[in-house]
Amino acid sequence: MQDWDKRAEQYTQRSEYHLKSEEQKAEWKGTLDKIIDNKSSLDMLDVGTGPGFLALLLAEMGHNCTGVDLSTKMLKIAQRKANANDLQCRFLHGDAEKLDFEDHSFDVVINRHLLWTLPHPGVALREWVRVLRPGGKLVIFDGDWTTHNMDKRRKYKQLLGNYLVMISEKRYTLNWRKRYKTRINNEKLPFEGADEGKVMSLMEAAGLSNISTASMEHLLKVDSKSFPLKYRLSFIEPYQRYIVIGEKLGH
Ligand SMILES: C[S@@+](CC[C@H](N)C(=O)[O-])C[C@H]1O[C@@H](n2cnc3c(N)ncnc32)[C@H](O)[C@@H]1O
Repeated sequence: MQDWDKRAEQYTQRSEYHLKSEEQKAEWKGTLDKIIDNKSSLDMLDVGTGPGFLALLLAEMGHNCTGVDLSTKMLKIAQRKANANDLQCRFLHGDAEKLDFEDHSFDVVINRHLLWTLPHPGVALREWVRVLRPGGKLVIFDGDWTTHNMDKRRKYKQLLGNYLVMISEKRYTLNWRKRYKTRINNEKLPFEGADEGKVMSLMEAAGLSNISTASMEHLLKVDSKSFPLKYRLSFIEPYQRYIVIGEKLGH
């Protein structure tokens, strides 16, 4: 069983706190709208869609969305959510590092918290650029998910958060990422501790232009009001997050 299959239900349950309030939903939609220049009805690919977080939000905004993921359990959850909310969205099994789409198939390729999980991010990025139409955008939401650059205060708060998760959910969270690495054959994850500069360089190497960043500040502020204390301490507050955007030039 794929590692993400095992985590799918618990991951979904936590990620639903991102969209608990109307204020959060509006902030997410506003942020995405700004990134895509308020364009409508775009063909979008959400790579590593998981429970369909971005794909469903974008479908609700009127875009034609496809979500791909390696985890069949995640895909089932995403489809269940689409059905429950009467949203049209294609969810397909697929590998982010080897996509099953023709060149120039999408106006936007987007992903959230996927890049760090990939053993070959350079290969993946070239694939994402390949399936983008000229003039299209690649949008990456990610963060530095290591503790190396975390100050002491954040580290202690995160330990407390992890402890609260452990006792309330009866699961051991501290070593999860270490176990993830052993399950993908001990391969290195070059972007697990990446900052936005490293992602920008990767985009540049893949031939993208007009590379820029967008702020996560407002999203984190509204999230802080909705997430329970245990998740705020263990997941929302400790990590540096970013959005990096690149454009594929041409007509
Ligand atoms: C941290 S979750 C992020 C899910 C979702 N993007 C979100 O915003 O909540 C990472 C997801 O990437 C998927 N994934 C990992 N490696 C993948 C690959 N090579 N191809 C496609 N999906 C992959 C996992 O199955 C998981 O659903």
